[in-house]
Amino acid sequence: MSAAERDQQGGRLSVDGARLLADLEALARFGRGPGGGISRTSFSEADTQARAWYRARCAGAGLSVEVDGVGNMFVSSPDEPAALRSVPAVWTGSHLDSVPNGGRFDGALGSLAALECVRRLHEERVPLRRPVRAVVYSDEEGNYAHLFGSSALVRGFSRAELEALSGRGGDRFVDAFMAAGWDPELATETTVDPAVIHATVELHIEQGPQLESFGHRIGIVTSIVGLGGGTVTFRGRADHAGTTPMTMRKDALRAASALIVRFPEIARSVSDRAVITAGVVTVEPGATNVVPEIARLTVDFRDLELARVDELGRAITEAARGVATEHELEVDIEFEPTIPPCRLDGGIQRIIGEAAAARDLSAVAMPSGAGHDSQNLATLAPTGMIFVPSIGGRSHCPEENTADDDVVNGANVLLDTVLALATDTPNAAVPLANPNI
Ligand code: GLV
Ligand code: MN
Ligand code: MN
Repeated sequence: MSAAERDQQGGRLSVDGARLLADLEALARFGRGPGGGISRTSFSEADTQARAWYRARCAGAGLSVEVDGVGNMFVSSPDEPAALRSVPAVWTGSHLDSVPNGGRFDGALGSLAALECVRRLHEERVPLRRPVRAVVYSDEEGNYAHLFGSSALVRGFSRAELEALSGRGGDRFVDAFMAAGWDPELATETTVDPAVIHATVELHIEQGPQLESFGHRIGIVTSIVGLGGGTVTFRGRADHAGTTPMTMRKDALRAASALIVRFPEIARSVSDRAVITAGVVTVEPGATNVVPEIARLTVDFRDLELARVDELGRAITEAARGVATEHELEVDIEFEPTIPPCRLDGGIQRIIGEAAAARDLSAVAMPSGAGHDSQNLATLAPTGMIFVPSIGGRSHCPEENTADDDVVNGANVLLDTVLALATDTPNAAVPLANPNI
C-alpha cells in the first residue's frame, strides 16, 4: 500500500510522491546540457517543448488547460461544478523556464507540485467550496523582463513596451515570441481582475542554505525581497591595443570593472542583507586587439526594504557617474521600475505552519532573497509561499538539488494549504490579512 493510500485511509489526502518525482525527472530532459545544467529560457525551443509536455501531462490526467496571451497556463478540472466557476479561485503554481545552465527544481517543483495537487483533487473528486487552478507563469527568470508573466497579469504590457524588450542575448522579445508561435497583439490583453482570485500559494526550493543549516524541513515565507536593476553602459573610445599607451586610453571595460569592484562596499553601506550583482557584461567592438569602446553591464540589486532598494539604486548611479568622470568617458544608466518587496499573508502563513505541524515537519518563518511571481500576485490577492531545503544552498546552477523526501513533504504541505483555502476548513477560516505591499 502506498503512502498516499495509507494517508487516505487515515482520512488525509496526500500527493502521489513517486509520480511527482517522475514528473520532475521527465521535465528535466528539456534543455538539459552535457554538464547536467538546464537551459530552458523562456520561449526557447526547450521551453516550447516543456510546455507541450506539461500540457500533455494535464490532458493525460483529464485536466483542462487555458492559456493567456503571454503564455501563462491555467489548469483546472473539467468536472468542476458550474456553480463554482463564478467563485474566486485558489491559485497555485510557479514557472517552467530556467536561467541559462540552471537547475532542475527552480520553478519546476512549484509548477509540477501544483499540477499534482489539482490532479489529486480531480482524481478523488474532492468537494470544494472554491475552484483550484494550477498556474504556470511565463518568463519568471526575466530572459526578457523579470517576473514577466505575473507582471502581465498584474499591470499588463503595451505593444510599445513589448517591442522594447530584448533578451539576455540581445534578441528582440517580439521576434522570439512570434517564432515560438505566439501573437504579440494578444500579449497586450492579459490583466486579470483581482476579484477572480481568493488566494495564491507557491511551493519553491529555498535556493539558499538556511533550512539545511538549521535542520528545518519547511520554510514559511514571510516576505520577498524587492528587486531593482537594469543596465549601465560606459562609452569610451576604441583604439589600437598595441600602440595606445595605457595613460591615453578611454577603456570602457576598465571603467565597468572599477564600478563592479565597488559593489560589496556599496551593498554593505546600505544594509547587511543588500546584494548587488553584475551578471552579464558585454563589450564592443569585442576584439582581443581593440581597446573596448563600449562596456554594458546588467545590474541586479535587492533588499527586503523598499527604501533600501531605492538607496542602492542611487548609490550605484552615483558610483557609476564618479567612475565615468574619473576615467573621462560617458555613462548611461537605465534602471527598470523597481519590483517592490512584499510581506506575504499572515493567515496563509498560519495555515502552512499548521499543515507542517500536522505532518510532523519542523518549520521556520523566513524571508525570501530570491524574487518570485508571488510578489506580483500578492498585489492581487492574499498570497503565501512554502520553501523546502536546497542541498548545500545551491541554486541557479547545475548542482541545484533537493532531497526526494523534501520534494514530497513540500508538495503535501502545499496540498494541505490549497485544500484548507479551497474548502474553508477551520484552518482556512482564520480571516486572511490584507496583502501588505
Ligand atoms: C529569480 O530566480 C530571481 O530571484 O531572480
Ligand atoms: Mn530562479
Ligand atoms: Mn523560481
